[in-house]
Amino acid sequence: MQSRMPPQAYISQDWFQRERELLFKPLWQFVGLKMMLAQHNSFITRNIGGIPIVIQNFNGELRAFENLCAHRQNPLQTQAHGIRSLVCGYHGWKYSSDGKVENMPFEHEVFRYEQQERECLGLKRFRLETIGNLVFINLAADSLPLNAQFNQALIAQLEDVSNAFDSEVLFTTYKTKLNWKLAYENLRDGHHPRYLHSRSLYQNVRFQVAMDETAIKHAKQYHANGTKDHQQALDLLAGFSNGGPDEPIKTRESYAWHEYVERYSDKDWYYNWLIFPNLHIASGSGGYSFIIEHHQPVSADRTDVMIYYVTAKKKRPYATSAAVLHAHLMGADTVLREDFEVMENIQAGLHSNAAHAVLGDYEYGISAIQDWYMDVMEGKVTL
Ligand code: FES
Ligand SMILES: [Fe+2]
Repeated sequence: MQSRMPPQAYISQDWFQRERELLFKPLWQFVGLKMMLAQHNSFITRNIGGIPIVIQNFNGELRAFENLCAHRQNPLQTQAHGIRSLVCGYHGWKYSSDGKVENMPFEHEVFRYEQQERECLGLKRFRLETIGNLVFINLAADSLPLNAQFNQALIAQLEDVSNAFDSEVLFTTYKTKLNWKLAYENLRDGHHPRYLHSRSLYQNVRFQVAMDETAIKHAKQYHANGTKDHQQALDLLAGFSNGGPDEPIKTRESYAWHEYVERYSDKDWYYNWLIFPNLHIASGSGGYSFIIEHHQPVSADRTDVMIYYVTAKKKRPYATSAAVLHAHLMGADTVLREDFEVMENIQAGLHSNAAHAVLGDYEYGISAIQDWYMDVMEGKVTL
């Protein structure tokens, strides 16, 4: 069936701006891992839908603010993560956990604000929620509850798996030249690994496409009819995020460090969670270690792929744990680059008159998301 997605959805900057308003504002966005925010004053910064965000720990409480000083909009935290109080480097204003200016050096000598003006000074705050060790924020004041975006079973699984993460994290960012939607489509395409990853991932995990006839029928019906119904759109949305054990691992290698961690499960399976719109969690080692992959849209043709590597929780510290994470990074790098190369080639070839994709039955998952996405972008449903 012919996809409803026009090439503009992947290449147009105007489209991208509209996407921010209609999709990224109402949806909950993954921003990072709680393990990286464990101490007082630890922080991470992100750019979500073009808005600079800081998540900061205030005596154990996580708060999300726009990362711009209320004085002259200087970014408060300038590193991707670290430990530092929320203080502006330009003129020294310091902020408290409610986003108010707690200390303004030389307030009475040089600033001399009227009382009313002084009282209004503060940072823009955003809603923040956690599921286990996963931190999400929402840019809209009156948006969906988190449990409308994700179903209860998924929330329970994510809580369970992310609570198994160790606190030592290796973090890296790939600057890719692709639209963020190509990444989620690629992850929902179980047919490509046998070709694209024939010499890497597919050697060990024989991904099968699931020809779920009921889901295929539903996707076709939805493709033909679309929806204007808010509740149906929300029900569909909740169905886009799911996961668990995916395929058995052919040969699970044993390493000495496996003894030193609390394995998440005892199944030699590839674990895979796809969390709409832009988060992917997987374990290629049957629960000994995890990759957390977050696609942060930068522009229509740029996506920062932010990746965290963790093992399952350590039973005790061991000398080679950093090397273990580094080996994971090197192993995943091959597979990621195979995917990026194809997606960047697709992106580079797209132009405003390019044909629409033609999806086969096995791509029913991609098709349902695309149809839903187009209903949102065409204003047939609002979230
Ligand atoms: S811009 Fe932050 S204190 Fe002046
Ligand atoms: Fe792939």
